[in-house]
Amino acid sequence: MGIALTGSGSCTPQVSLDNHGLSQIVETSDEWISSRTGIRQRRLADAETSVCAIAVAASKQALEMAQIAPTDIDLIILATSSADDLFGTASQIQVQLGATKAVAFDLTAACSGFVFGLVTAAQFIRTGAYQNVLLIGADILSRWVNWSDRGTCVLFGDGAGAVVMQANDRDRLLGFEIRSDGTQNACLNLAYRPQPKELVPGVTIAQGAYQPITMNGQEVYRFAVKKVPEVIEKAIFRSNISVEEIDWLLLHQANQRILDAVAQRLKIPPEKVISNLANYGNTSAASIPLALDEALRQGKIKPGDTIAAAGFGAGLTWGATIFQWGR
Ligand code: COA
Repeated sequence: MGIALTGSGSCTPQVSLDNHGLSQIVETSDEWISSRTGIRQRRLADAETSVCAIAVAASKQALEMAQIAPTDIDLIILATSSADDLFGTASQIQVQLGATKAVAFDLTAACSGFVFGLVTAAQFIRTGAYQNVLLIGADILSRWVNWSDRGTCVLFGDGAGAVVMQANDRDRLLGFEIRSDGTQNACLNLAYRPQPKELVPGVTIAQGAYQPITMNGQEVYRFAVKKVPEVIEKAIFRSNISVEEIDWLLLHQANQRILDAVAQRLKIPPEKVISNLANYGNTSAASIPLALDEALRQGKIKPGDTIAAAGFGAGLTWGATIFQWGR
């Protein structure tokens, strides 16, 4: 069974914080942040804004573009690392959309979550199990950022993006490659720290809390610039096309220097590189569908265009998929 991506949507919180605003919180400057990362501002969710709410708003747009009803959806996958509920947030999205037929679950692969979710969704369509899948990438990492660590707090922003994937006569998902390497897990964490608690003598359990994001920026940078071009080349090879046939390079929006270096290694010219991180920062699982949706609505990406999308991040995880937009 062939697969097509037929609808997209996105939602970001109203509140924005620019680099000047950040310099009131930590010792930094617009010059440092924009020259090292390309980021100029980011959107931040207030206390009333949930992952579910921005995911639902993005999903409604995607369903409208795909021209399908919520009741047509067979499966909802929410890629997130900042779920409203650790038991899963996808079923709250299901009920708010009125997707009564759909099964819904969360998938966590940090900033690779959207690509991992796309590959997961594709397997259900390929086998004929499901026809219509709603895939969402949504994160509110501002909940988990250490706002006194200038090495990380300048990077992240909040947002959501969604796509509709459908069974299609013509196969538009040409190839993929996804990878993990836990040996480098310590480079980037949002880890639970246990606190021992004795229930009765001899029975101790742990009740702790998640600790804010920690990162070794240089290690992550080196990893991304080496591994992302490799995985894209592998996905291109599996797609049986050449790199010249790629119309758009759509990378996880972490850092403009990473986008530039990856494009350079692949010999993809800058005008084919999608970038909106100046306005949103790194929105984790949301960044690829958010940038995709903007580029589609601006008329930049057109039906039939061939897109190489790649995610990378904590785990460590990374992956690429090659697809053509539309039916
Ligand atoms: N403002 C001002 N100075 C800062 C700063 C900030 N926001 N953050 C760090 N610095 C300082 C450091 O303290 C250091 O000072 P020192 O030389 O006096 O010790 C100096 O700037 C250089 O720090 P360094 O960490 O070496 O900078 P860098 O060139 O590696 O850039 C990143 C830092 C985070 C921008 C870069 O490593 C990066 O983008 N890595 C990838 C991160 C990423 O994308 N993570 C998410 C992946 S999903």
